[in-house]
Amino acid sequence: MELEILKAGTSESTIVTLVDVSPSSKIRDIKKLIFKQKKSLYPDRQALRLEPRGKSLDDDVQLKSISGNLKNGRKLFLKDLGPQIGWKTVFFWEYFGPLVCYMVSYTRPELLYGKGAATKPMHQVVQYAAICWSFHYAKRIIETLFVHRFSHGTMPLFNLFKNCSYYWGFAFYIGYYVNHPLYTPPLFGSLQINIGLIGFILSELGNFSIHIALRNLRPAGTRERKIPVPTINPFTILFNFVSCPNYTYEVYSWIFFTIMTQCLPAGLFAAAGFFQMTLWAFAAASGKLMN
Ligand SMILES: NC(=O)c1ccc[n+]([C@@H]2O[C@H](COP(=O)([O-])OP(=O)(O)OC[C@H]3O[C@@H](n4cnc5c(N)ncnc54)[C@H](OP(=O)(O)O)[C@@H]3O)[C@@H](O)[C@H]2O)c1
Repeated sequence: MELEILKAGTSESTIVTLVDVSPSSKIRDIKKLIFKQKKSLYPDRQALRLEPRGKSLDDDVQLKSISGNLKNGRKLFLKDLGPQIGWKTVFFWEYFGPLVCYMVSYTRPELLYGKGAATKPMHQVVQYAAICWSFHYAKRIIETLFVHRFSHGTMPLFNLFKNCSYYWGFAFYIGYYVNHPLYTPPLFGSLQINIGLIGFILSELGNFSIHIALRNLRPAGTRERKIPVPTINPFTILFNFVSCPNYTYEVYSWIFFTIMTQCLPAGLFAAAGFFQMTLWAFAAASGKLMN
């Protein structure tokens, strides 16, 4: 069959016309055929849609299964996603940056607070906070490299700058206040610090447990997405109540970090994370309902 590939959006101009396309081809194969004719549009850069502004089709969808929905029986719309960058590269820089940005005020206070700052006594909670912060981001890097089985190889290059400014900015902002020589320790002393610390450790364990459970749901080298259920690990019981328990545990981590440090910027980070992850969790839940 012949397939006309139009530019998604308002202009709808023709990008290429593909001839002799087999109805059993998958969207992934069509992207490769487009790439053969348009060398700038490598497959990861393409999103193919049935409508100019519709939802992007999954790579595994077969042409014959959607042929009845093709506009005029032969049209598909292509959105150029722009230059792409490896998913793991984005995550690595996104999580390595916060280690550096937070630690600069902890290890080199004189650079930010002036001469003499390094000789000022440091409260124990400031040391706990630096350990918790480093542990969290080291864990995220290890999970990115060795635990997650991502379904996408790349994402738009712009995300690198967007995500890094969010994480690096907050890391510097929180570190600046927690590591400040005039930092005020929590009002309720060691009780508050211990509640925060234990809560943070348990939440991190929960977050890690969910990441392992998600990994085990997807056989290596596949893009399978099964509906998660609790495993023998008690932390995974949250799968019975929420769609993304890893996000729930992540939010708890930052709430407990805020309790432990009693630092407003940490609370703002917890609130921003809560807002963003709630939107993603709703999107994931509606995706599950559609499947
Ligand atoms: N502090 C913050 O502001 C903030 C914000 C966002 C995330 N985070 C942290 O970063 C972590 C990872 O975030 P994320 O958005 O990548 O999490 P995610 O979408 O829940 O995914 C984690 C991994 O599990 C896979 N996965 C999810 N559901 C699956 C299923 N049903 N079957 C098989 N595999 C499945 C995902 O695959 P796909 O590649 O197919 O999606 C991905 O590789 C979070 O858990 C959280 O700790 C922090």
